[in-house]
Amino acid sequence: MTASGLAGIARAVFRGGPVLVRTLQHWRPYICPFEVLLPPVPAGARVLDIGCGGGLFGALVCSTRSPARFIGFDSSRDAIAMAQANVARMGASAGQAGCVPEFVRLGVEEAWPVGEFDVVAMIDVAHHIPPAHQRAVLEQAASRVEPGGVFIYKDMTRRGVVRPMMNRLHDLALARQWIHYVDPSDVKAWMAAAGMSLVHESYHTRWWYGHELMVFAKTA
Ligand SMILES: C[S@@+](CC[C@H](N)C(=O)[O-])C[C@H]1O[C@@H](n2cnc3c(N)ncnc32)[C@H](O)[C@@H]1O
Repeated sequence: MTASGLAGIARAVFRGGPVLVRTLQHWRPYICPFEVLLPPVPAGARVLDIGCGGGLFGALVCSTRSPARFIGFDSSRDAIAMAQANVARMGASAGQAGCVPEFVRLGVEEAWPVGEFDVVAMIDVAHHIPPAHQRAVLEQAASRVEPGGVFIYKDMTRRGVVRPMMNRLHDLALARQWIHYVDPSDVKAWMAAAGMSLVHESYHTRWWYGHELMVFAKTA
C-alpha cells in the first residue's frame, strides 16, 4: 500500500459531489498516511470510524481489508451525504463488492451506533473536540473496543511551530474552526486508565503536516 495506490482507490470511489470536496478526498492519501492506518485492521474486522468525514477510511478499508462490518459516523451532514453517495463504489474497484459500509450523521455527543467492534478508529478528529470533552470522547471510544481489539488514534501533531501552525491554518480555512491539539502523553495516560495498552506509536510527516499515530489494544 502506497499513497499513490490509495489515492487511486480514492479517485475510483469519489466521483460525485462538489469538485473541491471530491478533489480533497482524491489528494488526502498524500497528506495523511493511510498506509500505516490500514495494517492494524485485521481481515474480517467489525470497524467503527468516529468522525468518518466523507468516508475515505471506509473506502480504503473496504478495498484492502475485507471487513465484516464498517460503520462510520460524523456530525457533518455534507460529509455523510458524500459518503453515502459513494457507498456503491467502496470496495468495488478492488473486487470487494460485498463490502457495504454504513454511514450515519451523528455528533460524538449523541448516542453512538450500537454493536461490537474489533477496531475503533478516530482519525484527525480529536483536535476538533472541545478540550473539556476530549477525554470523555476518547474513553467512550476505548469502551467500544471488544476484548482483543484495537483503538487506532491518529491526530495532527503539536510538535514544533510550523506543522501545528500550518494545520491550524488548514482548519481555519476549511473547517472554519479554532482547533485544540491534544497532548499525546494525555492520550496515553487516559488510555492506560481505561485499560488499554499502547502497542504502536509512530510519527509521520507529509509536506508541512505532522501526524501522531497510536494504536492501543484491549486485553482479550
Ligand atoms: C479532518 S476531518 C477527518 C475525517 C476522516 N476521519 C478522515 O480522516 O478522512 C475531521 C472530521 O471530524 C468531524 N467532527 C468534528 N467534530 C465532530 C463531532 N463533535 N462529532 C462528530 N464528528 C465531528 C468533522 O465533521 C470532520 O468530518
